[in-house]
Amino acid sequence: MTTAIGQPLTRVDGRAKVTGAARFPTEVPAPGMTHACLVGARIAGGRVTSVDASAAWEEPGVLAVLTHENLPRIAEQPPLVPSLFGGPAPGETFFPMQDDVVHYGGQHVALVVADTHERAQHAAALLRIEYEESEPLTTIEQGRDQAYEPEAIFGGFLPARNSRGDIGAGLAEAGVRVEGTYRFAANNHNPLETSGSTAVWDGDELVLHDGTQGVNATQLTVAALLGIPLSKIRVVSPYVGGSFGCKAMVWHHPTLAAMAARVVGRPVRLALTREQMFTSCGHREEQEQHLTLGATADGRLTALRHHKLSPTSPFDDWAEPSLQTAAQMYACPHYEGSYRLFRANTMTPTFMRGPGDSSGMFALECAMDELACRLAIDPVELRLRNFASVDPVSGKPWSSNGIEECFARGAARFGWYDRDPEPRARREGSWLIGTGMAAAGYPAPPPGTPQRARARIYADGSVVVQAATPEFGTGVATAMSQVAADALGVPVSRCRFEKGDTDFPGIAAAVGSAGAGMISAAVHTAATALREQLVREAVADSGSPLHGTDASEVAVHDGAMTAGRASEQYADLLRRNHRPDAEASGTWNPPGMDAPYAMATFGAQFAEVAVDPELGLVRVRRMTGAFAPGRVLNARTARSQLVGGMLWGLGQALLEANHMDPGTGRWVSTSLADYLVAVNADTPDVAVELVEVEDRIVNPLGVKGVGEIGQVGAGAAIANAIHHATGRRVRKMPITVEDLMEAPHA
Ligand code: MOS
Repeated sequence: MTTAIGQPLTRVDGRAKVTGAARFPTEVPAPGMTHACLVGARIAGGRVTSVDASAAWEEPGVLAVLTHENLPRIAEQPPLVPSLFGGPAPGETFFPMQDDVVHYGGQHVALVVADTHERAQHAAALLRIEYEESEPLTTIEQGRDQAYEPEAIFGGFLPARNSRGDIGAGLAEAGVRVEGTYRFAANNHNPLETSGSTAVWDGDELVLHDGTQGVNATQLTVAALLGIPLSKIRVVSPYVGGSFGCKAMVWHHPTLAAMAARVVGRPVRLALTREQMFTSCGHREEQEQHLTLGATADGRLTALRHHKLSPTSPFDDWAEPSLQTAAQMYACPHYEGSYRLFRANTMTPTFMRGPGDSSGMFALECAMDELACRLAIDPVELRLRNFASVDPVSGKPWSSNGIEECFARGAARFGWYDRDPEPRARREGSWLIGTGMAAAGYPAPPPGTPQRARARIYADGSVVVQAATPEFGTGVATAMSQVAADALGVPVSRCRFEKGDTDFPGIAAAVGSAGAGMISAAVHTAATALREQLVREAVADSGSPLHGTDASEVAVHDGAMTAGRASEQYADLLRRNHRPDAEASGTWNPPGMDAPYAMATFGAQFAEVAVDPELGLVRVRRMTGAFAPGRVLNARTARSQLVGGMLWGLGQALLEANHMDPGTGRWVSTSLADYLVAVNADTPDVAVELVEVEDRIVNPLGVKGVGEIGQVGAGAAIANAIHHATGRRVRKMPITVEDLMEAPHA
């Protein structure tokens, strides 16, 4: 019997999105709508000494000018906890305009509300704000000497230091050592839809339309900041135009929109501009990683030392968790990893696609390539020799892995073994051609809180499933209809998934590739509970053909419950009993930290590049990724996610960079004109192999998620291919023209 799960169904919301029918949070209409514009600080540190709003107030339509002098005070600043874990999740533990201090460039220092967007924008430009400026500190070069080792990073969820074995002994027994410093430029999220919120008060009740990865996280955070009961705030988020981590934590604008709406007594719409996206919702921090590998002559790792240094904000110890998967990938007995931070004039960094591991695995996988070259061992073979069959950090077996099949199928599809391992051996005209590969890994940790959904079947046989989760482009709305269809045994065309509303059962913020697993678990549990309830009712119902049957004998298919020759449609059962519908809730309790398994997703990346050494140009010609994400819910949307991740890896490797101007402490790039992302013209032939592995531990359907794994290792495969092409080992992302240009031959 074919199942709905896994089918490459097209997106249920595709038509609404391409026709413009889909309504995003700052497109929601409301009677009396007003429009808010934010003003960002022109300095990177210091304080606001005066605000002259007189010219702004002379403009027609201006309703409010809010600054540190008159913005309502917050009730309570909740602590920084990663949004996945089900509590309030502020992006940083600082709320702007509570006093005159400016901590970073672009920090919100004023909010102007007017009756039209254009009037608000114009009035905002007329504010005269004076500052007292202090010397900014933003770059690693400036902050290196002030670095400290925090107690913990990532909202306190990860220790800043980890070790196993004895790193000194491991390095001493290594016959060969590879060591290098890896540098990473800061990255900024650039989803199509900039972040924004629309706030509508009705008396003391707030409806907040917000572009978010978790409506419950927004609800919890805004309620705490405003000091209102959770029962008085509903967060709605039916469509979100991409996110990639910048809508995972709850930044200031939804709360500011709600504050402003209360001040003007009318609904407020607040959309960030593209420029403001660079200074209002976090970023991937600039970082430096120092990595040392020790190995025996036959390529077995004896030691891995991995240190990271990065800037954080004045208030929070945040570093993306770059050392996590790199510590788990290989069975290396001696390990030491540590994070160091320094306080800088920046906002708190945040999740960004492939959070942590896309940088940490870059360092590890480039170093592994270097080791393979040094020992003349094939790079795939070197990894297979070292792959950790149990998690070396916890000592627990993997719930599933599939890495060997990823290497085998990826290498076969790519044609890996056709290569001459010698660098600079292949040339086509002025181009040097090279191939490279890398392993990919990403944790599949379940959320820490129960995940809930509700399933309802109507007397006409149509099904609605509800869960609070938003759909931010991942395909969840499509895949969850497939999950419900299989659990209930109804055609997928009869199932509809309703989402993005705190009035629906709670789901943690979809972060770190956890969405597909946790939401499918909740939906599957709810729909299964509904099926079991209906079967119980049928076998107990004297009017049913199934009366008296053992419930465990009843199978469901095509909207009917069947045992042997006896069969009854769900719809007939409901109608006979004069019931308009039946409904069940489901709660999935994720495995805890004490689960006897370690959970991660693995994959393998391969790339071919052409490099013109005279011009320093790189063209990625093709990429192949093989991934083992457990069970695939929808082959089309999963593949799209993986291709998207791989192309982002290409962008991270060759294009994406933002830099702080050390003099002004401001970002150099704040628009899509000069912040480069990969576009169609950069896109090579991309092949994806889906290696389905069974996993009975991670969640009921064995889904490990595909949001991040496509990006992890992609950059390293490209850097390794560049080394193979040119003989140059470039230990940074992005790799740019000046890293590769060679003096023309005399
Ligand atoms: Mo994802 S970058 O963890 O939202």
